[in-house]
Amino acid sequence: MQDFHIIQALCRASLSNPSQAVIRQVERLRDALAKEGNKAEAKKLSSLLSSVDKTCDMAPSRIQRSKVLFSGEKLTAKTPVPVDKETSTPLAEILFPEELPNESPLLNHNVEAAIQSILSEWQHFDKLAKIEAQPARSCLIYGLPGTGKTHLALWLAKHMQMPVVLARLDGLMSSFLGTTSRNIGNLFSFSSKYRCILMLDEFDAIAKLRNDPQEVGEVKRVVNTLLQNLDARKDFGFTIGITNHETLLDPAIWRRFDVQIEIPTPSPEVLYKLIENFMAPLKFTEEEIKFLSWCIEGGSGADVKSLVQWLKKSRVLNKGDAPDLVALLQRFSVLNAGRIDPNKKNLLAHGDEDLITTLLSDKRYNFKKKEIALLMGITQSALSKKLAKHKDAGSEAAYA
Ligand SMILES: Nc1ncnc2c1ncn2[C@@H]1O[C@H](COP(=O)(O)OP(=O)(O)OP(=O)(O)O)[C@@H](O)[C@H]1O
Ligand SMILES: [Mg+2]
Repeated sequence: MQDFHIIQALCRASLSNPSQAVIRQVERLRDALAKEGNKAEAKKLSSLLSSVDKTCDMAPSRIQRSKVLFSGEKLTAKTPVPVDKETSTPLAEILFPEELPNESPLLNHNVEAAIQSILSEWQHFDKLAKIEAQPARSCLIYGLPGTGKTHLALWLAKHMQMPVVLARLDGLMSSFLGTTSRNIGNLFSFSSKYRCILMLDEFDAIAKLRNDPQEVGEVKRVVNTLLQNLDARKDFGFTIGITNHETLLDPAIWRRFDVQIEIPTPSPEVLYKLIENFMAPLKFTEEEIKFLSWCIEGGSGADVKSLVQWLKKSRVLNKGDAPDLVALLQRFSVLNAGRIDPNKKNLLAHGDEDLITTLLSDKRYNFKKKEIALLMGITQSALSKKLAKHKDAGSEAAYA
């Protein structure tokens, strides 16, 4: 369907801040397209809709109700933030809901469902109160770098419609460990005085194992201060800890969090959605997205973002004379050695034939010869010739 990519971009933009009316109209469009036989386009709209469906369950009236669970004074842009007494560095930065990301992070299905369950507890806190239970008050988010942990935490805060008190490690940590403990105490008192979500990003820096042989008595005191403050905050607002180094966390700290969510690297399905999402407003074909997913598999969302942004730049710069996608990926893998699996980097760098046979034999992606030919910018018969030559060379080598 001509110009569908513009319609898709329009739908994506309106669904980034969805209302029930917008969703209904996109559903109507999807159904009409399917009826007219435009199955691929209808499928794309379904995938856009599935990434917002659950988010929209958070109707504004319900979000407002979660405010009941937050006690304390209202934070405003004028509220003075506590500072380190020696250096005057602020201990936190305040982020108001309107500054927080609207776009939900794209996560594997089971993680998405688990996160929805936290939001659902907050929506239905009154039902929980009847059985003398309360929603989770704290959440530890951990996982490899670049998997979207900070993005997820900020998005959660957006949905709770509360300002975020984002701890600043440069302010909190002092070369005088006694000062660090005092700063932690001041940060927590501030967060419990105001209605807010306390967010401790790169949390491992202050929550290291108490029995780390490298560290001495004062560090234990810092961790103990943290434990006491986390305990005291148990009935206030919401606290989010984020770390890449969960094994460095003291087990006692670990236990203080009501829920602990591991953010995995994206599954192939999520990779596909991430690529589609980051590439807007440009468009890649199905086989291009499939090939990019194959290349970046095992990487984080941040890796996918770098790859897609790099490709977008080269598309724009090489307008009309763009090299084929395989050639572009060869370049990207040289410029981003740490972002591509070394085996795949090798395949991209050496000889098309090995790459073709590997792609054809990868059962999960199920590449067709026609698709690979398109990716390499050659005809299908040229691809078959390459393969035949490769086969002959292989058998000659076997008999040599
Ligand atoms: N699953 C995802 N969905 C959407 N965007 C993502 C995802 N993962 C990463 N990103 C994007 O990649 C960038 C880095 O993400 P973010 O900073 O949240 O990762 P992180 O896990 O906190 O990384 P680090 O451990 O290095 O702090 C952001 O621009 C973010 O939007
Ligand atoms: Mg982060």
